[in-house]
Amino acid sequence: MSLKSEILKLKKEKDVVILAHNYQIPDIQDVADYVGDSLGLARQAAKTDNNTILFCGVHFMAETAAIISPHKKVLIPDLEAGCSLSDTITAEQLRKWKSEHPGAVTVGYVNTTAEVKAELDYCCTSSNAVNIVKAIPDDKQVLFLPDMFLGSYVSKMTNRKNMYIWAGECHVHAGIKSQDIQEKLNQYAKAEFLIHPECSCTTSIMYDVAVGDYKGRQVQMLSTQGMMDYVKQSKSQDFVIATETGILYRMRQQNPEKRFIPASETAECQYMKMITLENAYASLMEDKYQVTVPPEIARKARIAIDRMLSIS
Ligand code: 13P
Ligand code: SF4
Repeated sequence: MSLKSEILKLKKEKDVVILAHNYQIPDIQDVADYVGDSLGLARQAAKTDNNTILFCGVHFMAETAAIISPHKKVLIPDLEAGCSLSDTITAEQLRKWKSEHPGAVTVGYVNTTAEVKAELDYCCTSSNAVNIVKAIPDDKQVLFLPDMFLGSYVSKMTNRKNMYIWAGECHVHAGIKSQDIQEKLNQYAKAEFLIHPECSCTTSIMYDVAVGDYKGRQVQMLSTQGMMDYVKQSKSQDFVIATETGILYRMRQQNPEKRFIPASETAECQYMKMITLENAYASLMEDKYQVTVPPEIARKARIAIDRMLSIS
């Protein structure tokens, strides 16, 4: 029996749901019950009936699932699957930052550790960050963390002047440069342009995005699932995609008549790619590695996560 068939058999026997992020390798996406963005995966974790969640993504995502579903067993195939963005801020650094802005409302991207989430008022993802900041009264200062590109995009879209932004970045998205994008857009004259708000070029093209145009081109700033949904309903044939290249697999699978061009072929997250069929199988077989969050941290982090889940 192939490894994929073994995994599918084992997950049924052990009552496991497999959740996978859009950046996972194709083989993992093939065995998953649900593939999506951070928000979608958190929502699936909240509503699953299965006893165990095998989380094929990075550690902070599995931690979020463990917080939302405290009575489920959450497994991750490789504990080293981290995130360079979530590593840019610790709970201690956040406490210090908060002490410098008493009364400020803290909004943190889901790409943070559970300890950091426990210090937040709101958690957000790329798909709902703008709406969350819009929901905060105008007279309140906002501390936004840890992604500076997403932060400046949100501050532009909400026209917020009293927003302070942590200087963190994701090395994968920061590595997609305006020049890469320009080259691809020149090459594919009719392509629409889809960009993830973590990309470093967001700041320079933000105004154009706000008006729905980039150098005469249709442009959309979207979460990974937002991109998946957008390309399906668009009438265009060609799309330049500025995010991690793992997303292209399902895009091409679901839209065989359309063309998807990565803004940068080298935009690969090595943490996401640590999950393989081999370690997913071992994880199912040996019930490893269980992701747990200390109850007091989980209780506090849950408040911010629940607010994120309630605002779409
Ligand atoms: P999404 O929430 O858009 O899936 O992004 C998560 C992430 O880690 C992007 O690098
Ligand atoms: Fe983290 Fe960047 Fe990888 Fe997303 S792509 S998981 S933000 S390192």
